[in-house]
Amino acid sequence: MSRVALVTGGTRGIGEAISAALKTAGRTVIATYIGNKTAAENFTAVHGIETIKFDASDYGQTIDAVRSITNRLGPIEILVNNAGITRDATITGMTRDMWEIVIDTNLGSCFNLCKATFDGMKNRQFGRIVNIGSINGQAGQYGQVNYAAAKSGIHGFTKALAQEGARFGITVNAIAPGYIDTDMVRAVPPDVLKKIVTRIPVGRLGKANDIARGVVFLTADEADFVTGSTISINGGQHMY
Ligand code: CAA
Repeated sequence: MSRVALVTGGTRGIGEAISAALKTAGRTVIATYIGNKTAAENFTAVHGIETIKFDASDYGQTIDAVRSITNRLGPIEILVNNAGITRDATITGMTRDMWEIVIDTNLGSCFNLCKATFDGMKNRQFGRIVNIGSINGQAGQYGQVNYAAAKSGIHGFTKALAQEGARFGITVNAIAPGYIDTDMVRAVPPDVLKKIVTRIPVGRLGKANDIARGVVFLTADEADFVTGSTISINGGQHMY
């Protein structure tokens, strides 16, 4: 039977490409979304992939959603923590709310989903977890103390959980995307984005598929010796 893969924020941007690539790799994919119902419906129409709506930053909702997916489709054996948002501002303009929502959504969701699925993976002696970090968690970024802290936290989280999973056939890895051509990056002020692109040695923004290919590699059954690692996919912008 094909393994069940859950992709948070899996209906748009990088998440959409990851969901589609995992389906092509033969997985039974379910993609989560929180607010954009139209995008989720379009996603299902285009890719034939089921979606589920819940707030991954909410612990109770996450536990309930994972239980219902498991009852219906079977245990989640592949987890991609991709859900992420930005609320960019320098610290002068950043409110406590902007801090909290980014930490809770980008990093808290990662805890919630891993907490809800890890023991099941342990019992079955198999699991593949991929956490989507960011170049900005590795290098920092002006105007993103919240996002950089959350993404940097994801990289530490990954290395800690990899140590806990290793004896049980569970791998935990991260991908650190650079600037990928998605709605999130298109929201960066054009003059700022132009300057950023000049610092990418490959000379262009990345494509969502560049990240999805990494996820397919890390979630393969055969990738059982790769754990605790971060793959940077950033066109050479930050060599880490
Ligand atoms: N380094 C140093 N100085 C910088 C700078 C930088 N990277 N960016 C801006 N500044 C300076 C500007 O030059 C300007 O100074 P002057 O007035 O002296 O010229 C000053 O800071 C104010 O800049 P803004 O006019 O842009 O200020 P703002 O308050 O309107 O906006 C901001 C600040 C919200 C941070 C805005 O600059 C911005 O959105 N920057 C982009 C942040 C970014 O890259 N986000 C990534 C989103 S995509 C993502 O996160 C995905 C991923 O994982 C890669």
